[in-house]
Amino acid sequence: TGIEAFVRGLPKTDLHMHIEGSIEPQLMLDLAARNGLKLRWDTAEALRGAYRFQNLQSFLDLYFEGCKVLVTERDFHDVTRAYLRRAHEDGVIRAELFIGPQSFTERGTPIEALMSGVLGAMEEARREHGMSLGLMISVHRHRTEPDAMAVLDQVMPWKDHIIGIGMGGAEVGNPPSKFARFFQAARDRGFRTTVHAGEEGPAAYVREALDLLQVDRIDHGNACLADHDLVRELAAQRVPLTVCPLSNLRLKVVSSMREHPLKALMAHGLHVTVNSDDPPYFDGYVTENLLACRDALGLSTEEIVGLVRNGVEAAFVTEEERQALL
Ligand code: HPA
Ligand code: ZN
Repeated sequence: TGIEAFVRGLPKTDLHMHIEGSIEPQLMLDLAARNGLKLRWDTAEALRGAYRFQNLQSFLDLYFEGCKVLVTERDFHDVTRAYLRRAHEDGVIRAELFIGPQSFTERGTPIEALMSGVLGAMEEARREHGMSLGLMISVHRHRTEPDAMAVLDQVMPWKDHIIGIGMGGAEVGNPPSKFARFFQAARDRGFRTTVHAGEEGPAAYVREALDLLQVDRIDHGNACLADHDLVRELAAQRVPLTVCPLSNLRLKVVSSMREHPLKALMAHGLHVTVNSDDPPYFDGYVTENLLACRDALGLSTEEIVGLVRNGVEAAFVTEEERQALL
């Protein structure tokens, strides 16, 4: 339709996506075969049919199972390349990609293989598609702070190729405060920071992210609406929220798209961006996320353009790069 082509044609950002959550089902089967691994599904349709979740944990269980097919440098290259090609076709001009090394290094994959594969594919996409790209290292909040510190040490040889540090995984019971020293260390080493907060966790976790971790952005952030003082501060400081509407729907953070708080967040003057999170698992890239919000919440064309523009403003780029993207 006209609106679909319009949204796809808009130069967009994807600031909250996980490389290991971007493996399309057929690629997962191909990588499994290449590595001599047997999956619980034989066809892409069967695998896609398993993408039905009750909550964040039921998703994480499958997501970490899927991580097993990424073993060699070539695997990391191929999955990153496939996402970037698809995102480019979707009209994404700036993508910031998370990867969580702990899922792979714990099984013996050297950090060098992971970093070379991902960075090589990113360099190709810069060259072939003219995309602006940044890599962010994400740690697991359900593991310990010393584990996270070890990841930070491991990736220091690639410091100049990493724009930021983030954190994901099982949120409830693993508040930001558990990682206060880790985020301090990340900031001390010159990284931008962001953290998943207020997805399944409460507004208090978003508060901790802001005050204790002093992050530059919040990933998700939905739950902030329960705390009016917090909303005021986030709006005043223009802290970007990387919202992922279809992720929220599929993980039952919201019961339907009509219940999604996107418009409420916007109405409070928050710096809202729309992102894909884990596109195949949640059945949508950035365009589908924007269109789902438009259909359910009645976003105007101006509101869609505003959300896309917010993404460029929230990107971890220099002012010079930002002007080039606008
Ligand atoms: N939340 C927590 N952990 C994750 C997510 C998410 O949305 N995506 C990938 N890992
Ligand atoms: Zn995420």
